[in-house]
Amino acid sequence: MADFKAPKGVPDYFPPDSAAFVAVRDGLLAAARRAGYGDIELPIFEDTALFARGVGESTDVVSKEMYTFADRGERSVTLRPEGTAGVMRAVIEHGLDRGPLPVKLCYAGPFFRYERPQAGRYRQLQQVGVEAIGVDDPALDAEVIAVADGGFRSLGLDGFRLEITSLGDETCRPRYRELLQEFLFTLDLDEDTRRRAEINPLRVLDDKRPAVREMTADAPLMLDHLSDAAKAHFETVLAHLDALGVPYVVNPRMVRGLDYYTKTTFEFVHDGLGAQSGIGGGGRYDGLMGQLGGQDLSGIGFGLGVDRTLLALAAEGKTVGAANRVDVYGVALGETAKLELAKLAATLRANGIRVDLAYGDRSLKASMRGADRSGAVLALVAGDRDIDAGTVGVKDLGSGEQVDIAIDAVAAEVLRRLS
Ligand code: HAM
Repeated sequence: MADFKAPKGVPDYFPPDSAAFVAVRDGLLAAARRAGYGDIELPIFEDTALFARGVGESTDVVSKEMYTFADRGERSVTLRPEGTAGVMRAVIEHGLDRGPLPVKLCYAGPFFRYERPQAGRYRQLQQVGVEAIGVDDPALDAEVIAVADGGFRSLGLDGFRLEITSLGDETCRPRYRELLQEFLFTLDLDEDTRRRAEINPLRVLDDKRPAVREMTADAPLMLDHLSDAAKAHFETVLAHLDALGVPYVVNPRMVRGLDYYTKTTFEFVHDGLGAQSGIGGGGRYDGLMGQLGGQDLSGIGFGLGVDRTLLALAAEGKTVGAANRVDVYGVALGETAKLELAKLAATLRANGIRVDLAYGDRSLKASMRGADRSGAVLALVAGDRDIDAGTVGVKDLGSGEQVDIAIDAVAAEVLRRLS
């Protein structure tokens, strides 16, 4: 038994599967960059109070799932459970909101939540996210959603659906909250659920227990109580999505696990994943910047789960990412040949060709097995005697055909064959 294991609930990604991880992360980020989002790199840990205030004290994320510790200077810091609060902190701190609006930012990386690990639910999870800050325009909501939708589709994923709703704004939400509470307090709820109804009544609508579902079937819905402005905003978002050909389902009972959402709120759900079916989600958070001490600007964004997108692709039987590690594999027998092939490898790599070499003094047979395993298209094969004669063997690993090429002409020949 090895002495160490990765922490519970933390996945490792290594070759060959890590190629798919990188393809998903980069593919989703590329979709964001194509829409003008600029990269932001943020601290992995922040002041604990940022998340408590930004994400919300009453959320599970803050109350149960944060990795919080005192650093050596006795400051309470927390491993970031999500990206939006940190982005807002950076935007306010560096005055990005004083420049042209919207500020459009994208990011990728690990986030940390002390959840009960299970398939698709990790304690270190990977997300790609975007945030568009400072313009309250429903067309921007639609763009953000379309970028996520397009990102998933660019990977070949299609077995997902987009669920969308509006959580209202500061004029209609408080009134609706009261209405919902009035309704919930007429029900015969257990003590825990009753407490939840007091702190965060919306969350009761998300209760998965059949008995609670049945009792709340006729609960008032936010969508039926939107202010005129919030209603118009939502309808325009949907009209834009229709025009962009982004399919969606309105889910008026959608509840998100973070407190900052207002108006447009959405989730991408994949049915091939079991209980952890959310492959991405996001929405507007028009009060967040003000709440964190900045000016009163709106914002909208998403976070897409890279780990879950990988599971969704597997569920659809799809592969992404290069299957082969290299294009060319060099097999040298003897010291002179090793030196010559190392030089050739450097030349080819400088020309953008992926090259690996056999190392150690292995037999020709063992080295050729390495060439096959590498997925290379071509092998360069040479012994000291070939180098003395001024040639290197170029072997097509598909057909098995091998020809001797003058050393000076090998790089050009490889480039020609691979083009
Ligand atoms: P979230 O819904 O908490 O939103 O997370 C976004 C996505 O991250 C989820 O849909 C899921 O795919 C993935 N995810 C979350 N928790 C886990 C986990 N334990 N294991 C694996 N994957 C997970 C946010 O984080 C918001 N910051 C998104 C956002 C950005 N809203 C506005 N801007």
